[in-house]
Amino acid sequence: MIPGEKITLRALEKRDVEFLRALRNHPEMMPFHCSYMPVTEIQQEKWYERTATDTRNVVFMVEDPDGKAVGYVQMNGIDHKNRSVEIGIHLSPQAQGKGYGKDAFRTLMRFTFREMNMHRVFLQVFAFNERAVDLYKKLGFREEGRARDAIFQNGQYHDLVVMSILESEFESA
Ligand SMILES: CC(C)(COP(=O)(O)OP(=O)(O)OC[C@H]1O[C@@H](n2cnc3c(N)ncnc32)[C@H](O)[C@@H]1OP(=O)(O)O)[C@@H](O)C(=O)NCCC(=O)NCCS
Repeated sequence: MIPGEKITLRALEKRDVEFLRALRNHPEMMPFHCSYMPVTEIQQEKWYERTATDTRNVVFMVEDPDGKAVGYVQMNGIDHKNRSVEIGIHLSPQAQGKGYGKDAFRTLMRFTFREMNMHRVFLQVFAFNERAVDLYKKLGFREEGRARDAIFQNGQYHDLVVMSILESEFESA
């Protein structure tokens, strides 16, 4: 368990599989994923089997103050040589706007810098996702660049924004 101020991060468990599939397939959540196909039970189970033992790509569940799973954070491509990792977050629509996202991301950032000894934490966000971009800026992330028109969604192209924060910037944030 990794406690934050409001939320707690904990390991991914088999009991989370169906919640995560429902979250993934939720119509309000689909626009924030790169893949656009709804996920089947079998695909989700196979994803769980791979992810539960993966040490490079790690998922933590986000629990609210009542201990209820409300979403997840992830670390992709954990790179111990360059001390770099990509992170991401998805909270269920009912759990959004309560400060859980900020707390969960800050808790994960603290864990990556102060426990995993990472030097650089980065993320990719769709340019139209203003709420997320706003949050990341508040947490000290800076825009590194944009992959122009990299995302096609709802009949239009959108930029993919890459943002990062270094350990020295996190210490002073
Ligand atoms: C983006 C997300 C993680 C933010 O988490 P959250 O719990 O909803 O946000 P919080 O309540 O912690 O608010 C953090 C900041 O987000 C911004 N924010 C929150 N709700 C917002 C809204 N409705 N509109 C605009 N900005 C908003 C604010 O800047 C807020 O800062 P403040 O508390 O100082 O005002 C969450 O909404 C989510 O999971 N969204 C869907 C999936 C997604 O977009 N993931 C990111 C993919 S890159």
